[in-house]
Amino acid sequence: MSKIEQLHTKTAAAQLGGGQARIDSQHKKGKLTARERLTLLLDEGSFEEMGMLVSNNNKGLTLDQEAFLGDGVVTGYGTINGRLVYVYSQDFTVYGGSLSEPHAEKIVKIMDLAMQNGAPIIGLNDSGGARIQEGVVSLGGYADIFYRNTRASGVIPQLSAIMGPCAGGAVYSPAITDFILMVEQTSYMFVTGPNVVKTVTHEEVTSEELGGAQTHASKSGVTHFACANELECIQNLKQLLSYMPQNCQDDAPVYPYEPAAEERPALNTLIPENPNQPYDMKEVIAELVDAESFLEVHKDFAENIIVGFARIAGRSIGIVANQPAHLAGVLDIHASVKGARFTRFCDAFNIPLLVLVDVPGFLPGTDQEWNAIITNGAKLLYALSEATVPRITITTRKAYGGAYCVMNSKHIGADLNFAFPQAEIAVMGAKGAVEIIFKKDIDSASNAEVRMNELVDEYTNRFSNPYLAAEKGYIDEVIVPEQARKKLIRGFKMLENKVVDMPRKKHGNIPL
Ligand code: COA
Repeated sequence: MSKIEQLHTKTAAAQLGGGQARIDSQHKKGKLTARERLTLLLDEGSFEEMGMLVSNNNKGLTLDQEAFLGDGVVTGYGTINGRLVYVYSQDFTVYGGSLSEPHAEKIVKIMDLAMQNGAPIIGLNDSGGARIQEGVVSLGGYADIFYRNTRASGVIPQLSAIMGPCAGGAVYSPAITDFILMVEQTSYMFVTGPNVVKTVTHEEVTSEELGGAQTHASKSGVTHFACANELECIQNLKQLLSYMPQNCQDDAPVYPYEPAAEERPALNTLIPENPNQPYDMKEVIAELVDAESFLEVHKDFAENIIVGFARIAGRSIGIVANQPAHLAGVLDIHASVKGARFTRFCDAFNIPLLVLVDVPGFLPGTDQEWNAIITNGAKLLYALSEATVPRITITTRKAYGGAYCVMNSKHIGADLNFAFPQAEIAVMGAKGAVEIIFKKDIDSASNAEVRMNELVDEYTNRFSNPYLAAEKGYIDEVIVPEQARKKLIRGFKMLENKVVDMPRKKHGNIPL
């Protein structure tokens, strides 16, 4: 065999991973192989593999172990829409994609390159966890990865797709990354699986119920996207990346856009006259941003707040918006954490923020108080207060109480604050306010109900509008709703070169 033939033989063996039978079994489960996934993810012909011939042959294993070239993970770099990315894709056909020392070293090498060269890293996870034959060495490999995930946080975008098992300690790498995407029915994430759960808590639960895509998309919020299949997952990864810069010192790419009519008359009628009638804030968003540009993140989790990426005049923005169509848009623990984490991502990566406000306040109740709405609500307040990216607020309707302050008010550093004429910016709603401040007056009235209604009307006329806030300069402009898109295009353009110097510190102490 010639030397070149020898190389071809080795390459062919590496391409087969754990062998054809295991590839067939992977396909039978409705899953693609590690290499097939990379082919779909990266621009055609752009993938350069590194470490294809790495093997666990010489690692002094304690148990008999067959060596496979590549050792259960395919690593390298390539491009997505022409932009450099670093990738690793775990190969379930080799020891269930489990993480050995060389497997971890390959991932670490790619992560270091991504950091040094300022490009995103994408991990495609499909793994049975720590390579059991290796013991603590494998755990050390995980810790090496977690450490780098943390160092890279806020420096380069880190995306994790879960396309098979991801259990035990393995979950903590995706957890530290910026976004997690899961595939329905074929992926799951949990710290301890159904068997351990049954032993310890006597609960009977399937893997899908405990840690499947839908569970984490709607109940825990661990995943940001639940994708119907692997193809959709890969498409979501690419779209997500399109809103992001390569690293924290870069700006997101600018896309061409159709400069359709700037005035949007539909906005004039979208907000109902009756302040207690719900409407869908997503319809407002659709009128404000470039056509088809909105990508919602965390769609099924804490639906009372909406977060997601979009473009205005071709430029990326992040949107944080109360959703009056769900729980009247109230802020609760999950909504606050969801909004805070998204805000911090945008701020870390120079993506300007648009905050749409229609919030009746924070959700009352023992459940919220005992689970620390104080600490968790403070996260959103903190995240917005510390954000130095351009920040524009539109108050479409209610902005009451502490929630007014939290939702990107002028006082916590918003650059431009607009309000629709329907806005009600006050300490609280008219009825609640009147019941407290005019209690004696109402109690002593000959007809309490009539007196109450009079006072509510009086309070509404005086306080439930945007004009007191505008008088104080807390609102820069009360705008006809149809003008909102135009105001945003001009506003974000005006703020394009915003620079803010922060006080010198090691890092802040966000209330965790
Ligand atoms: N270490 C070493 N090998 C592993 C492994 C691990 N952690 N997890 C799976 N494998 C191997 C299996 O031995 C099997 O090898 P084979 O192809 O030579 O038969 C192969 O990977 C596929 O595993 P299998 O159990 O047949 O696949 P499955 O789809 O039925 O189940 C898991 C997948 C992940 C649920 C199951 O393999 C499992 O429970 N693995 C152990 C998880 C764990 O406890 N990890 C350690 C702590 S984090």
